[in-house]
Amino acid sequence: MEIAPYHLGFCATAQENELKALPIQGSIPQWLTGSLIRTGPGTLKVGQQSYHHWFDGLAMLRKFSFKDGQVCFANRFLKSQAYQEAIAKGKISRGEFGTTARHSLLERLSDPLPRLTDNATVNITMQGECFTSVTESPFPIVFDPETLNTIEQFHYQDHVLGQITTAHPHFDYQENAVYSYLVNLVPRCSYSIYRMDAYSHQRQLISSVRVKQPAYMHTFAMTEHYLLLVEFPLFLSRLSLMFSGKPYIENYQWKPEKGTRFLIISKENGKVIHSAQSEPFFAFHHVNAFELDGEVIVDLVAYPDSSVIQSLYLESLLHQREQVIAAGELRRYHVPLNNAIADYEVLTSEPIELPRINYQRCNTHPYQFVYGVGSSESGNFIDQLVKVDVQNGTNQLWHSHDCYPGEPVFVAAPNAIFENEGIILSVVLNVQAENSFLLVLDAQSWNELARVKLPYHLPFDFHGQYFETLASTDRRQLHR
Ligand SMILES: [Fe+2]
Repeated sequence: MEIAPYHLGFCATAQENELKALPIQGSIPQWLTGSLIRTGPGTLKVGQQSYHHWFDGLAMLRKFSFKDGQVCFANRFLKSQAYQEAIAKGKISRGEFGTTARHSLLERLSDPLPRLTDNATVNITMQGECFTSVTESPFPIVFDPETLNTIEQFHYQDHVLGQITTAHPHFDYQENAVYSYLVNLVPRCSYSIYRMDAYSHQRQLISSVRVKQPAYMHTFAMTEHYLLLVEFPLFLSRLSLMFSGKPYIENYQWKPEKGTRFLIISKENGKVIHSAQSEPFFAFHHVNAFELDGEVIVDLVAYPDSSVIQSLYLESLLHQREQVIAAGELRRYHVPLNNAIADYEVLTSEPIELPRINYQRCNTHPYQFVYGVGSSESGNFIDQLVKVDVQNGTNQLWHSHDCYPGEPVFVAAPNAIFENEGIILSVVLNVQAENSFLLVLDAQSWNELARVKLPYHLPFDFHGQYFETLASTDRRQLHR
């Protein structure tokens, strides 16, 4: 069977490396003097074994550093426990999102309880004063942002319990605090919503919402006064998780008859102040949310059901047995605070994923622009960048032959007046040249400013953040 043209994006990087002064086609703005740090799979194989899902590979950090119009690069594997065990044993050591670890009888006897993975392959966040790589198990891995060396697992100094979390916490710039949640499965299921002051290692539990079965939620939304958990009807069976032997995500069941539930939680007192229902749908990523005229407005990337998860298994991605679903529909949900029904409008006809906004300026407020990846034709893998004007429904695209771009990170220009005054940074795989490059776009004009070329390819990654400085006290660029 024919292999997908972008298969290199799921193949391991040749090596860990540090590269000075990469070749640049075009020019980098002189004001760009920070670092883009990203995480994602560095390899999807260990010894003779392969991971099964795109979300499973062993994490590798990547860093592009900018100074005086020049760009340096480094990539290094995250030396999590999952990574170290896998390398030592030459096989997959811990179960991941779509892969189970197979243990011998001797291994099961000597270590009978399965260990949660700490393979932090999804996003980069700040915890306390630490730079961390994170995933959906609550074990952030601290790394040195200068060298990308792994330091240790982050230690919370509290007793907030949970086994599942989100890799997309929110930062409240008014309160100078992080909001996020844990899913607690024992003794009863609940969503434990917490707040953590900047620089603190202590989470303060603000709400515990009891549920029969927790839903799979990759992100949540925040407005000025509220946190929103949108429960898509993909529910976890604890019994199945304990006894089925199936990969983690396959213990969730799609129950469309339940619809989707919007839970609105007060940041001030942790109470669920409103609950609304809509038709069933699924989403990984929220885009933004804000309060307007007695409604909570929630923008997100929606799919009709959870089959997108199946579509992102490597077998499906690489052999294109069916049409690939890798981007969804940008929807705006209206959740009236005096009505139990949520309704939506579609903001653009362009498929979109990995959405980013000018977060520091716009999160929790009305806004105009969303940036994301997309598909140029239905059934294609991600092969273009999209900029959507959500106020008038227009969009702009970036597409280049044989090129597959990653998440577009917006970086505001110094003293910017306009929301889109800044640049977009996206790591692009060029399958013809068999390498990757960092694409720099002017976010306002959508003109290409530069391509910064790497001598080798990087596997497709997920999320990253731009930091103006790597000083641990600088939180100005804490995005989601
Ligand atoms: Fe994500």
